[in-house]
Parts: sequence; structure tokens; C-alpha cells
Amino acid sequence: MSNPLPKLQAIPHTIATVGDYEIAARERVSESAWAYLSGGASDEVTLARNTRAFSQLGLRTRVFADLAEGDTNLELFGRSFGLPILLAPVAFHRLAHPDGELATALGATAGGAGLVVSTQASITLEAVADQAATPLWFQLYIQPDRNVTLSLVRRAEAAGYGALVVTADAPISGFRPREQRVAFRLPPEIEAANLRGAPPPLTHTAGAGQPLLLGSPLLAAAATWRDFAWLRSQTSLPILVKGVMTAEDAGRALDEGADGVVVSNHGGRVLDGQPASLDVLPEIYDLVGDRAPVLFDGGVRNGGDVFKALALGARAVLIGRPYIWGLAAAGAVGVSHVIHMLRAELEATMALTGRRRLSEIDRTAVRC
Ligand code: FNR
Ligand code: LAC
Repeated sequence: MSNPLPKLQAIPHTIATVGDYEIAARERVSESAWAYLSGGASDEVTLARNTRAFSQLGLRTRVFADLAEGDTNLELFGRSFGLPILLAPVAFHRLAHPDGELATALGATAGGAGLVVSTQASITLEAVADQAATPLWFQLYIQPDRNVTLSLVRRAEAAGYGALVVTADAPISGFRPREQRVAFRLPPEIEAANLRGAPPPLTHTAGAGQPLLLGSPLLAAAATWRDFAWLRSQTSLPILVKGVMTAEDAGRALDEGADGVVVSNHGGRVLDGQPASLDVLPEIYDLVGDRAPVLFDGGVRNGGDVFKALALGARAVLIGRPYIWGLAAAGAVGVSHVIHMLRAELEATMALTGRRRLSEIDRTAVRC
């Protein structure tokens, strides 16, 4: 493969959709970074399902509705959002752009989306907070050492993060054939900046013919609901559990004191074979109802998809790869342009389905 092209300095008119950004991004990162940033687990069946689920769901339009005085505002955990879109936690933005999460923070602010910063960000959570003027949440991977976990929580509190998003679906990383084929490794200049000084991730080497995972120290150290209960007792920040794919786990999360859930299969990156996250959203919303916000991610590629997720019960959606493609193609401008396109498509979908406010988008707006 040839060398990556330089980042775009201006957005050409040929970039009109998120899909166009995917193409522009691919030409502007190394083959190795591309495998990490865009790939999924195993045969990528779940990755494909996530987007297909949206294309299979149709909209129910209502004509001649009164469309005066609409908006896309909502409130989450006491904070106003102008758009039901947050940038999902994604590790190592510097793989996509040298300015990494700093460019993302600028783009999120300009575009008016919230930003969820990953535990594995390549810029410290404090530096990102200094750069952002948009609601910030911190994504927490519960660490094997509670002191390390607690220090991350205290740092997020001190830096003004408004909520913790505790990712529960990745106690081990997925099989990633695309990464293996290109021998993906983090370049030496990119690191998990928030974990500087923390013990390195556990690894385990099994003897020949021995189980690889089961019974290993790796799984013994994986977080459980006990660790979640401990975490809940340590902070008054709102906590969302990310990676919930069943009504049972949504119920358990709320019973354990979570303030919300994120319906997600991690963008199809951890366990292939899971259903599309859109397909399980209704069962989870049916259980949770309006007791707590149900957020959603996986496969959102345009504003119509945002609308569909809201119709099936999501209060807001997170986007992952789409903004990473914007970042990889054109830095902060690309991120804000992706958000802008989603906004434009969402607003047009609302107008054409006769819904002028987010609260009017319900299940009657889609053909189930
Ligand atoms: C992720 N995701 C993720 N999730 C998380 O909780 N912590 C993390 O550090 C990461 N890292 C990460 C890296 C990359 C390259 C991707 C693409 C994704 C998952 C992410 O938050 C989200 O669940 C999915 O990306 C949503 O699916 P789409 O929008 O990418 O289809
Ligand atoms: C991933 C991890 C970092 O999806 O969550 O790559």
C-alpha cells in the first residue's frame, strides 16, 4: 500500500456523507492504523449487522404536521445538550491524527456534540478537558488495582467530567484478524496517556495443551458486579454501564445503582456473533422505560440512523467510527463536519416525519 496522503486542509464538495469520510480517511492513515480503527472482531458479522439493522428499518412519515418552533435540545444528568449525539469513547486518537483527542475536542465543541473520553486516550484527560467547551464524560475501564481505578475517577472529577461511562463488555479484547494480518502495534510515540505509571496490562501465557483463558489470572482479575458496587460507593458522579445487550443486564445495572445504560456491542469489536445493537434496543427500553436514560451506539452512519435509534428508545446516541474517519481525514474540521452532517440529516428526517422535538420521536415513527 502507498504512503498515506496528507490531511485535507479544506473539505471538498465531494465529501457529502459519512461514507465519503470513510474513503478519505482510509487514504490518510497507515494500513496498520486503519486495521485497528475500522476493524471488528473475527468475521465481522456483528459489525455488518450493526449497520444493516438500520438500513432494514423504515420510517413512518406524517404529513402536514405543524413544524413551527422545533429544536433538537435535550437534558442529560442536569446538563443541556443541543444535539442527541456524543462522540463515543475510542482509544488512541493519535493513530488517526497527530493532534489526537485535542483535535477531537475542538471538533466536538464546534459541532455541538458531547465527548466521552476513553481510559485509553492518547492525550491525558486533563489536557482534553482544557481544550473542550462541550459536555465531557469519562469512559472508565475498571482496573485490576482499585487504587488505579480510584485515581482515574478522582482525576475525572477534578477535571470537570460530568459522568462516568463504565465499559463492561470487554474484559478481554476481541479476536481481530485484520490487526493480526498487518501485525498491528501501537507506534512507540503513542501511549495510553491516562495510564502512565500504572501497572502494564496483564498478560498470560499458557503452557502447551493448557486452557488459554479459563482459570487464568487474566479472567480472575476481570471486573464483576462487586467491583461495580464498590465503584458506585466511591463517587457521586452519574454512572452509565456501557455494553449492555440484554434486559437482564440493564435491570441489574439499575439495581446496582447505575444512572443509565449504553446499549452497545462495542461496535462489533469484541464478540462476533452478537446481534446488532439496534435489534436489542427495544427489549432494553421496554424494561428500563423512563426510569433512566438508555443510550445507544453501533452502526450509526447518518442522521436518519440517529432518528431511528431515538424512535426505538434511545435518549441519545454515541458515534464511534464516523468521527474517527472525520478526524483521520481532516482533523478537528473533519470531526465537526461529521457532526454537522448528522445534524442536518437528523433535522431533515424530523421535519419530513412530522416530529419537531426529540420527545415526539417514538416507536410510531418507524415500521417495526
Ligand atoms: C472503540 N470503542 C471503545 N469503547 C470503549 O468503551 N473504550 C474504548 O477505549 C474504545 N475504543 C475503541 C476504539 C476504536 C478504534 C473503535 C472503533 C471503537 C467502542 C466505541 O465506544 C463504540 O461502542 C463503537 O465504536 C460504536 O460503534 P460505531 O459507531 O463505530 O459503529
Ligand atoms: C477497543 C478497545 C480499546 O475497542 O476498547 O479497541
